Amino acid sequence: MTATVSDLLLDWYDAHARDLPWRARPGHVLPSDGSWPYRVWLSEVMLQQTTVAAVKPYFSAFTQRWPTVEALAAAPEEDVMAAWAGLGYYSRARNLVKCARAVAELGGFPANEEELRELPGLGAYTAAAVAAIAFDERAVVVDANVERVVARLFAVEEPLPGARKAIRDHADRITPTQRAGDFAQAMMDLGSGICTSRDPKCLLCPLAGHCAGRLTGDPARLPIKAPK
Ligand code: ADE
Repeated sequence: MTATVSDLLLDWYDAHARDLPWRARPGHVLPSDGSWPYRVWLSEVMLQQTTVAAVKPYFSAFTQRWPTVEALAAAPEEDVMAAWAGLGYYSRARNLVKCARAVAELGGFPANEEELRELPGLGAYTAAAVAAIAFDERAVVVDANVERVVARLFAVEEPLPGARKAIRDHADRITPTQRAGDFAQAMMDLGSGICTSRDPKCLLCPLAGHCAGRLTGDPARLPIKAPK
């Protein structure tokens, strides 16, 4: 039997995952105090439009000062805004407080994508990411890194943004029923370290043998962007 894309990618992730403060480490027992979905959610909000390197110190400062969503919900908005200073896109911080208060009111994060999507400020991406990573739901998580990997893997020639639906459908087809959160994060790691925009390192890629973009001879030209 040939290994599927998700098997190959998850094996690669088990060996090469980046060790990031908001991730569970192999063999790590998840905290049972409800702080795990909180950490996943906080990291995903911070990582929108901000690099992993820039997020790390803010993530540790926030989780030390406000270790649970209830603690963040009880914080004065101006304290959270001040702690956010430097991360940019300040509407994220205002929404963070609103969302924390709504979650505290509910008694914890809802455990599925559909209900997560109803929380204030939680977009489609964040709802899918939290559902998959924190609750192991089979949600399809597509950020810019995943978009690039998928566009190459399936040699999607249609330009962005029109290609988004086709890319999402491809991503849906390769998302496994088990370990969807690890799969999503593996796609992100692959996109940030191997399937990079300019200079993809196909020789190191666990999916090279499945990649239609590589067969075209020039995977770096994908995804194609429509002229502005
Ligand atoms: N970018 C957005 N979410 C991420 C995650 N969970 N791991 C690495 N990079 C990310």
